[in-house]
Amino acid sequence: MDPQSDPLHTDRHPQTSFQTIIEPFRVHSVEPIAFTTHAERLAALERSRYNLFGLKASEVTIDLLTDSGTGAMSTRQWAGMMMGDESYAGSRSYERFNETVTSITGFSEVLPTHQGRAAERLLFSEAVGSGDVVPSNTHFDTTRANVEHEGAEARDLLIPEGKDSQSEHPFKGNLDTASLESTIEEVGRERVPLVIVTITNNSGGGQPVSLANLRAVREVCDRHGIPLFLDACRFAENAWFVKQREPGYSDHSPLEIAREMFALADGATMSAKKDGMSNIGGFLAMNDRDLAARCRNLLILTEGFPTYGGLAGYDLEAVAVGFWEALDENYLRYRARSTAYLAELAEKAGVPTVRPPGGHAVYLDAARLLPHIPSSQYPAQALACALYLEGGVRGVEIGSLMFGKPQENGTEIPAEMELVRLAVPRRTYTQSHIDYVGEVIAAVARNSQDLRGLRIIDQPLWLRHFTAALEPV
Ligand code: F0G
Repeated sequence: MDPQSDPLHTDRHPQTSFQTIIEPFRVHSVEPIAFTTHAERLAALERSRYNLFGLKASEVTIDLLTDSGTGAMSTRQWAGMMMGDESYAGSRSYERFNETVTSITGFSEVLPTHQGRAAERLLFSEAVGSGDVVPSNTHFDTTRANVEHEGAEARDLLIPEGKDSQSEHPFKGNLDTASLESTIEEVGRERVPLVIVTITNNSGGGQPVSLANLRAVREVCDRHGIPLFLDACRFAENAWFVKQREPGYSDHSPLEIAREMFALADGATMSAKKDGMSNIGGFLAMNDRDLAARCRNLLILTEGFPTYGGLAGYDLEAVAVGFWEALDENYLRYRARSTAYLAELAEKAGVPTVRPPGGHAVYLDAARLLPHIPSSQYPAQALACALYLEGGVRGVEIGSLMFGKPQENGTEIPAEMELVRLAVPRRTYTQSHIDYVGEVIAAVARNSQDLRGLRIIDQPLWLRHFTAALEPV
């Protein structure tokens, strides 16, 4: 439902008169969390071979592994699910999904997918070929893997401030347009099938991209006739940062800003598990009818008929409601504040974080906290394991385990940053949960000089951080 026509929509009553920014919801249904002993956590860590993806959720107390699909849905979303139309073709739920996505993005071709990477695979399979170069501010890991799977190069062209964890630049997710120009010049326009900008820049600290930057990227793309796509997983959080930080936008609603962002692009891939506020879902959307038709054929081959794309009708309903809820100002204000609060706790504990905090996560700077552990020994993974061992808090490494490039001589080119991401699931944890996480961080920081690095003992070819096995050095 469009929030403008909804009398109960909290956006109609922005919470501004008091300092405390409260959760704009109350708890409707609860789920127990697990408490474990230190010995149990050590055993779990050894069993999962120092890879936190190998833990059972029942071994984790506060799960900050990801904000993807882990949030709490609203009463409206659950009610919407009861309206799910499970018709194989042309369901009403698809119409609602389609109307919502078109209304927010303006794109005419909307292909539902079961999650973001399915949309990426469809797009890159059809639009990208071997030897191509796909520029981005920073590719997320699945995006990079899908580009490389086509035999193409995924090239990150982030502005220099985006690589400096301490820079307070308001839009550290911006793409460096001069590098984009020189990349196109270097490889030739015909080898650059598209540019994809990730909003917000997850792998670079959840940092936003400004509208001015999107406009500048668009201008370069137009000059060379190259399509521009958005990886729009966290488009609503990006819109919120534009509203807060970009001159001229403080009076614009997040919806207006989101529409302006999408209007600058030719298409988007989306994981609705983030700003779709849902547990599953996504889409590929664009204006190019021919490309969409080719992607749709592939969708039928691997995902499902184009009006459900691997989702149940009720999933389409949950996402259709969730997109509007993600654009609610009271929600976004609370979202940004609660993430910043976690960053403040980490910094108070003496753990440097990527500044300023992003929308969905706090990124601990393991390279600064653990200067005695070289990147070849995965300091961020060591820190992530220590947080789990100390207090059952699960984060995820975004450093050389995820992005290091193994070389033929057995060495690796390390990642540019060694980070532990503590992602905050949407509408899920309370302030005291986060206070507890702050205490766990402080306890680890007090003994940081005793932490040891890790070495990889087994790894797959693709996306190794999900399944690699490690052991302490
Ligand atoms: N792009 C970005 C920027 C993402 O953050 C993700 C997922 C994807 C694409 C892929 O979407 O998981 O639905 O297939 N990020 C999750 C995370 C997994 O933890 O950050 P998906």
